[in-house]
Amino acid sequence: MRIILLGPPGSGKGTQGEMIERKFNLPRIATGDILREAVKLKTPLGLAAEAQIKAGHLVSDEIVASLVAERIKQSDCLQGYILDGFPRNLNQIKLLEKMDNCQEEIAIEIYVPEETVIKRLVNRRICSSCGTVYNIITSPPQRFEFCDFCGGQLIQREDDNAEVIRERLRIYETEIKDIREHYCRKGVFYKINGEGSVDEVFKRIEIILESKIKKKV
Ligand code: AP5
Ligand code: MG
Repeated sequence: MRIILLGPPGSGKGTQGEMIERKFNLPRIATGDILREAVKLKTPLGLAAEAQIKAGHLVSDEIVASLVAERIKQSDCLQGYILDGFPRNLNQIKLLEKMDNCQEEIAIEIYVPEETVIKRLVNRRICSSCGTVYNIITSPPQRFEFCDFCGGQLIQREDDNAEVIRERLRIYETEIKDIREHYCRKGVFYKINGEGSVDEVFKRIEIILESKIKKKV
């Protein structure tokens, strides 16, 4: 099964994606994480994508689609996978369906209003070493600015500043209508409330996924 996580920046795609990964034993493919790692390592891809990410703009569809195509060829994706942050427009949907015409898919939009998004993102911190995500208000580390798991320094994402967040939201709002329509037409679209605790949001997703899996059996 292909699980597509949709939602504005800061809606919790990464947080929930990791929980789905653990519970349903499916690999999570997060295009933003892959791109940020490439930037950190200064690979040719990272150098090409850095300016767009910093500005909150989309990286080229072809570049991102080729990353996903490479990843889903790996054997751990045979039983399915979770997409976090892809597809982000109709062209990426077209590219995705061309690379894997998956028969079973589900698109879940995690809906969170703009005020919540901004609050979450300006307070997000990430471990520079292992990538664990924190929120200094809702899920702070035990030791200020250091990761609970590996002791790494916590940093703020370069695109988590108010101006860039607004641009990311603007792009999201422009593209999401067509994406919703596409998955609604296919009868695989679900929208859930992304507010409440992380566990409460996960419960909403779990109910949808379990009902889909039960139907299959
Ligand atoms: P990407 O990394 O995908 O960023 P995004 O879509 O803007 O989403 P975020 O990662 O910011 O938020 P999230 O929904 O994962 O929330 P999280 O769980 O971390 O993309 C970044 C950039 O890469 C793009 O702008 C673009 O340049 C490029 N890119 C990526 N994919 C691309 C594509 N397909 N095409 C072209 N370009 C692409 O949670 C946020 C915070 O809230 C955390 O602090 C968390 O702890 C907290 N939180 C989560 N849930 C809750 C809760 N229930 N209650 C309280 N706090 C919560
Ligand atoms: Mg994310």
